[in-house]
Amino acid sequence: VTLNIQADKPIAKVSPTLYGLMTEEINYSYDGGLYAELVNGRAPGPQWDALEHWVAVTEGSAQASISVDPANGPSTALPRCLKVTIKQAGPGEQAGVLNDGYWGIPVRPDTTYQASFYAKTDAPSLGPVKISIVDNQSGRAVASATIPSITSEWKQYSTVLKTGQVSVSATNHLVLSVEHPGTLWLDLVSLFPPTYKDREHGFRIDLMEKLAGMHPAFLRFPGGNYLEGDHIAERFDWKKTIGPWVDRPTHPSPWHYHSSDGMGLLEFLYWCEDLHMQPVLAVYAGYSMMQEHVEPGAALDPYVQDALDEIEYVTGGSDTRWGAIRAKNGHPAPFSLTYVEVGNEDFFDKSGSYDGRYAQFYKAIKQKYPQLQLIATTPVSSIKPDVVDDHYYKKAEEFFADVHHYDGTDRNGPKIFVGEWATREGGPTPNFGAALGDAAWMTGMERNSDIVVMASYAPLLVNVNPGGMQWRTDLIGYDTLTSYGSPSYYAQVMFANHLGKEVVGSTVSGGGPRFFYSATKDEDKGILYLKLVNASSVPQPVDLRLMGAGTIGSTAKLISLSSKTTQDTNTLADPMHIVPTETALTGVKDSFSHTVPPYAIQILEVSLK
Ligand code: AHR
Repeated sequence: VTLNIQADKPIAKVSPTLYGLMTEEINYSYDGGLYAELVNGRAPGPQWDALEHWVAVTEGSAQASISVDPANGPSTALPRCLKVTIKQAGPGEQAGVLNDGYWGIPVRPDTTYQASFYAKTDAPSLGPVKISIVDNQSGRAVASATIPSITSEWKQYSTVLKTGQVSVSATNHLVLSVEHPGTLWLDLVSLFPPTYKDREHGFRIDLMEKLAGMHPAFLRFPGGNYLEGDHIAERFDWKKTIGPWVDRPTHPSPWHYHSSDGMGLLEFLYWCEDLHMQPVLAVYAGYSMMQEHVEPGAALDPYVQDALDEIEYVTGGSDTRWGAIRAKNGHPAPFSLTYVEVGNEDFFDKSGSYDGRYAQFYKAIKQKYPQLQLIATTPVSSIKPDVVDDHYYKKAEEFFADVHHYDGTDRNGPKIFVGEWATREGGPTPNFGAALGDAAWMTGMERNSDIVVMASYAPLLVNVNPGGMQWRTDLIGYDTLTSYGSPSYYAQVMFANHLGKEVVGSTVSGGGPRFFYSATKDEDKGILYLKLVNASSVPQPVDLRLMGAGTIGSTAKLISLSSKTTQDTNTLADPMHIVPTETALTGVKDSFSHTVPPYAIQILEVSLK
């Protein structure tokens, strides 16, 4: 291959928001994933008893049973609750309930856990209530605390549980128990481990660290199908996801498990804040996946109003109605917002109503917030969208063949957001062949990032425990205790962390169908970033000619991700099998040769003095 780089000829701006994250509740991404809550089914939902995670437990001759009380819960939002009937218990013979967690409760030594629950009893008081993390095998408590007594009125109780010198393990459960007969109603039983940046009821540390490593510019939320739900009543109804948990009804998700809605609108915004990402807020637009839709016109008005209220919740000062509610919920300062997406994949709406629905949202939002950029989920004709969201789930071969997809896109048309894309090979997380497909595709997006303003891989997260995955392939895998990045994850880390501000001119000859590249430059830093992808099984010699580069540093940083086969991958058991390596490449000058190994993704960071 001969690759000519015209370092002094910028041909397009690189979007500063090119690489970001897309997320939704899928594959136990939040519950049982990023949202660090350890209790599975902390509140029975409208259509979910959660009893597969709750079991009555007794010691000695104690007796207890458990059921869901349909109309005795702690709030209007949570009318249902757990009812624990303790027929017999006594000193040294505890009775109560256990929760098995999300594939166990993770335990680490010298760690403090925040526990809380709502409770009431039928007597004036019942207690003490013991709350313990218990080892599944030995039945011994590894940490416990006591609430002296509970009363006949619903009340929230909180305490902390501290482990000592225990081994790291996931094979534990949580127990709440008493040593007196009585009836105990429970709801919102919760246990949190330490979280990222110590955020109260926040996020799992190892996953946030992996996401931070991607340096994402934005977060698209809350979906995906999860935004729409199977039915209109099961959409992400943001007003039901804010405020105290006791005011959140929880809801069924289209990915076949119930959502606790612990991850509500404000938590998404906290996530953005913690990782310095800008929110890309997807608003429900009147279409749900079982072909339910709301006709444009008066019927759609309440949904448009909901979106306006949502934008006000995110961006309004605390002197606005919804900004004041956000302040009351704990965040007085408004968040900044540039992009709002209207719906998700509305090309699936067979009624053809999206054109009208989008236009109605567009006009109402622009009237109040003219500065916002409004994303359409499919092309529309009645109005020109600011941005259109394109989705691609492909095989590596298909991405290789499509890397010039945006080369000829009309620069006067809407901007492009590649809001979901992935090479789907391997599983649960992608293999190295998929990473090659991803890298090839990213070179095409980078070269066209004057028009492709944002791109986000999907899905982002997967709990790899049995039954955890609904969609293959996913960027980051984890179980109850640990996590790993797939080769595709590392390709993204490499691409996002080595990106110039301008695409520079280039020509290539002799590359063949398995060689891909992009060249960007950061004038301020004096760095030229060359991304080279060899998706073939043989070494690829490259003659590099750096024209107009001025004085070139003779040693470049070479970051490499490669593998012997396309089937190789990372797993929980072997998380660092394929990771980037960094070496120094010497002999760099305005004309030099470099051989890209077989199956390799490389970045050359050339300094321009
Ligand atoms: O990423 C998985 C799903 O793929 C998303 O929920 C949906 O938008 C798309 O069809």
